[in-house]
Amino acid sequence: MTKKTVALVVGTRPEVIKMAPVWFALRDSAVLEPFLISTGQHREMLAQAFGVFGLKADADLGLMQPGQTLPDLTARVITSMTATLRAHRPAAVLVQGDTTTVLGSTLAAFYERVPVGHVEAGLRTYDFDAPWPEEMNRRLTDPISRWCFAPTEWSAENLRKEQVPGAIHVTGNTVVDALLWVRAKLQRANVSAEAVAQRCVVPATFTRDFLQTPGRRFVLITGHRRESFGQGFENICHSIAELAKRYPDLGLLYPVHLNPNVQEPVRRILGDNPRVALIPPVGYEDFIWLMDRCHFVLSDSGGVQEEAPSLGKPVLVMRSTTERPEGVTAGTCSLVGTDPAVILREAAKLLDDPADYRRRSALRNPYGDGSASRRIVETLEWALAAN
Ligand code: UD1
Ligand code: UDP
Repeated sequence: MTKKTVALVVGTRPEVIKMAPVWFALRDSAVLEPFLISTGQHREMLAQAFGVFGLKADADLGLMQPGQTLPDLTARVITSMTATLRAHRPAAVLVQGDTTTVLGSTLAAFYERVPVGHVEAGLRTYDFDAPWPEEMNRRLTDPISRWCFAPTEWSAENLRKEQVPGAIHVTGNTVVDALLWVRAKLQRANVSAEAVAQRCVVPATFTRDFLQTPGRRFVLITGHRRESFGQGFENICHSIAELAKRYPDLGLLYPVHLNPNVQEPVRRILGDNPRVALIPPVGYEDFIWLMDRCHFVLSDSGGVQEEAPSLGKPVLVMRSTTERPEGVTAGTCSLVGTDPAVILREAAKLLDDPADYRRRSALRNPYGDGSASRRIVETLEWALAAN
């Protein structure tokens, strides 16, 4: 029997991380097989994520341009994806998350009449300005999708209220599958601080003081949201500089996203502080190793909010609202926006109040149990076998 092909679409770092477990589950299917399409919305950061999982795109649209704009990228994703779907005619297309790759590819599949499955469906802030443009991307993707794979009961309920026409399946988030896979790999490999520091280009003094010296605390930082560009990022950087000033024993480790709107203020404001280590984006495995060892995380990332509860690491979420309220309810995440006074106040609680820290670092992940990919593939096996 020939297997039916399911196209998995990825374009940015988090899409690769969250789609990799689905690729593995499809590879092991008796009736389906994966066909990996990269839009190449990201380049270096995508290659880094592919490398960790040993994946290679079957079709690479190679779309990234420095400083790309939303309308231009969206148009090019639709045009290139349409041609790729026409050439390969998969039985279904899977998209993940809320990027321009997701919206453009979903529209292309719709125009080509290929059914779409949306992995991580139903996340909502109900604020079209935050995250921008991602909230609109997923609001437009879900009604087009034949299968909405909701990570949690809360996200499924959002879809039911919106009366999306597709089938809603609660699966858990595939990021938990990816995290467990990487943690097992790290445990087997018994990775050393020196090896991580070398791969991640962490400066020697920071490595010695914070990665090799037990008990020294460091904060892991990431940030890239478009709605924070400009004043928001200036505020974030000044908060980090102020944290370093107020806590002379604290390290701050920041793998800086490659978006030029992020690079510029971060390097200008934080560039010459020896306890603030600015490093290039790091591979997923190394990022999890670093998250496992940090005191807490300061981040506006979606994926990091979902991973932190499995590692028991509090996250100060530099956003005004979140489409992932489960982490806030669990106590792991708290919303601090980009106001320095709030960031410093909340950071102080985690640094100065051991009882509060203990409460916030309890291990409980509301986003999944590590079997999301298997559930997604089983659903597709049933649905596509019938056609
Ligand atoms: C995109 C997604 C965002 C996701 C994030 C993950 C959209 C609208 N945004 O934001 O939802 O959370 O990825 O990181 O889809 N660049 C490089 N090399 C890379 C990647 C980016 O140089 O490997 C630079 C380029 O100049 C590029 C710019 O960053 O033009 C912006 O990339 P883009 O994918 O448009 O936006 P992100 O901010 O990365
Ligand atoms: N991540 C990584 N290297 C880094 C920073 C983050 O591998 O230097 C991982 C992180 O663990 C998470 C994902 O990338 O799984 C989040 O990506 P990002 O913050 O770019 O996007 P978002 O999740 O906000 O869409």
